[in-house]
Amino acid sequence: MDSKVTIVEVGPRDGLQNIKNQVPTEVKTELIQRLYDSGLRIIEATSVVSPKAVPQLKDCREVLQSKTVKQLAQTHSVRLPVLVPNIKGVTIAHSYGVSEVAVFLSASEGFSRANINCTVDQGIARAREVTSEAKKLGMIVRGYVSCIFADPFDGPTPESAVLRVVKELLGMGCYQVSLGDTLGVGSPSDVRKLIQTLHDNGVSLRHLAGHFHDTYGQALANVWEAYKCGIRVFDSSVAGLGGCPFAPGATGNVATEDLVYMFNRAGVTTGVDLDKLVPTGRWICSKLGIPTASRASAAISAK
Ligand code: HMG
Ligand code: MG
Repeated sequence: MDSKVTIVEVGPRDGLQNIKNQVPTEVKTELIQRLYDSGLRIIEATSVVSPKAVPQLKDCREVLQSKTVKQLAQTHSVRLPVLVPNIKGVTIAHSYGVSEVAVFLSASEGFSRANINCTVDQGIARAREVTSEAKKLGMIVRGYVSCIFADPFDGPTPESAVLRVVKELLGMGCYQVSLGDTLGVGSPSDVRKLIQTLHDNGVSLRHLAGHFHDTYGQALANVWEAYKCGIRVFDSSVAGLGGCPFAPGATGNVATEDLVYMFNRAGVTTGVDLDKLVPTGRWICSKLGIPTASRASAAISAK
């Protein structure tokens, strides 16, 4: 097994997007800085989406033009991808100097309509335009496929639907596709089965990442199973923050602290300093007025 994994920290985007009270922009940018200081080198900074759809991230322009983000971007030692749903999002992101965007599709119809107001087919066509435009502008593009195991409206997702969207995203030029268990319902056996199906149908594991929400307490086990299957890139969120306004009942992402603790114990390098990350998680939770969802952080802090 490789002894290194890459973490894509999604706290400033997925982690905050479903928080009801408006989080001050300075807190968002300080969070990005603190995550960087903890050793994270890919941090999804925000999303440029309809402010009606996700009011919490309506200050995306302020985040992108903040001194913190500009200075970090100049260091070239960190990547700060931004989630975009359409050409408008790409154009805005580009005008603020963003060099990497992420497009997102659902494998299932119900969530596609709720999240991006179109069918899966229409979403694929839109993502193709977005990817092409972003590449023309010199950006690199990551893809997400949501609802890999189930959809909040349609129920279980067929593997064939996930395979189709993954192939579409890779075919249109995404350098990687993150497999999103948006509802957090999958368990390790589901993870193994899906990855096997994707692999058997010609998808290289080098182009996949895992994005597991923790609604049923399976997220960390899912990460480990995906790792054992050969996946080496994982999305996670500091303090286990996260959730989607269009996925009712779903909880946060796997906590970055728990993931780092687990990989540290296995001798797998993450590049993250847990001694710095734990206080960062405690700090953001104090700002949000919520307890941490990270078990490792709670245990370390109680010592
Ligand atoms: P629509 O209503 O069909 O689109 O929404 P529209 O083009 O008619 O635009 C509606 C309004 O939004 C207009 O403003 C546009 O200008 C504006 P108005 O004229 O009404 O004042 N608008 C924008 N503003 C800023 N940036 C933009 C933008 N686009 C339009 N890029 C649309 C369609 C896709 C825009 C909308 O549904 C949307 O923004 N959806 C995003 C929802 C979202 O962000 N969900 C959470 C992220 S996905 C997720 O969490 C899953 C993931 O974590 C993986 C997993 O867990 O599975 C990635
Ligand atoms: Mg998510």
